[in-house]
Amino acid sequence: MGTNACTVITGVSGFLGPHVAAAAFTRAQAEATMADPLGTPVIGLAREPAGAPRFTSPRDAVQMEAVDLGGDGTARVALERFRPAVVVHCAALARGGDCERDPVLAQRMNVELPGEVAEWCAENGARLVHVSTDLVFGARDAPRRGFDEGAEAGPVSVYGRTKREGEELVLERHPEALVVRLPLLYGNSGGRGLGASDSVLEAVDRDEVPKLFVDEWRTPLEVGCAAAALIELAHLEQRGVLHVAGPDRVSRLELGMAVLEAMGIAESDAAAMVHAACQSDVAAAAPRPCDVSLDAGRARALLRTELLGVAQGMRAATR
Ligand SMILES: NC(=O)c1ccc[n+]([C@@H]2O[C@H](COP(=O)([O-])OP(=O)(O)OC[C@H]3O[C@@H](n4cnc5c(N)ncnc54)[C@H](OP(=O)(O)O)[C@@H]3O)[C@@H](O)[C@H]2O)c1
Repeated sequence: MGTNACTVITGVSGFLGPHVAAAAFTRAQAEATMADPLGTPVIGLAREPAGAPRFTSPRDAVQMEAVDLGGDGTARVALERFRPAVVVHCAALARGGDCERDPVLAQRMNVELPGEVAEWCAENGARLVHVSTDLVFGARDAPRRGFDEGAEAGPVSVYGRTKREGEELVLERHPEALVVRLPLLYGNSGGRGLGASDSVLEAVDRDEVPKLFVDEWRTPLEVGCAAAALIELAHLEQRGVLHVAGPDRVSRLELGMAVLEAMGIAESDAAAMVHAACQSDVAAAAPRPCDVSLDAGRARALLRTELLGVAQGMRAATR
């Protein structure tokens, strides 16, 4: 039995997933024809999709389905139901603190689940883009240009370790799959305070003074830009591991300042609204690496999607 011409996105109630669903719909619209005016259907999976933000117009453009992927074999059942030709797998236990508190669940969500998804995709000839993270690094600091795809992984947290094991299992079971390592994401979370920019803005709105690290370095990317890149890659033949990240290596403090300045706040006022801190000043829910900057040179050469720097990315996020 073949696959259906549809795209399944998992994790559509999270921060990244709704943007990926929207990017998939935009692509389907661009490819729609007179004979097929609606284009390839996009199906979003989440435990409670009703609460997911919808970044499409019309709002119901993505078919939302309630699916719990927590149990053994649940991915196979869901994928068998829709038989997608393309899967972008975003669902994960993606918060570091949650993974430290429940390593068994982290193993299920970040290792076994992607393994199941990969197995089904390999058996059925479906394209798989699996989303991973810069936090598979951290045991040593990134070189000046950032870690490239050939750099040896070295996670320092349960999240990073399980995501790394998930990457390995995906590629073992489906060597044609693409594992995309994303950096810290920022941008529009639909008013939910998720991601690296909305979390700062929400804290400031609550009259808090967020602590932002001067000694934690990342190559952040705007979430809509990451989503567009994932969908573009879903339609290319690239396989293995690819780093998709922004061109700017910035500290968490610099990122926070850029977020506030993008809101029209003058630099001097913005500086008074945040607290410049060191990692050692704050008790962390999970070990925090200092510098997991990624070198996305290969992705930049491959993609039409522009991987925006922080200033441009914040402008895109606030449009
Ligand atoms: N955010 C970042 O800065 C960042 C950076 C690098 C890589 N990533 C990667 O990007 C992907 C998405 O991250 P995110 O920030 O969007 O995470 P998130 O906001 O925590 O979303 C995780 C998604 O996974 C779903 N999920 C969790 N348990 C599930 C279950 N049992 N059954 C079905 N769905 C379940 C969640 O659904 P519920 O709403 O039902 O829990 C949610 O939709 C992850 O693979 C993450 O590792 C994220």
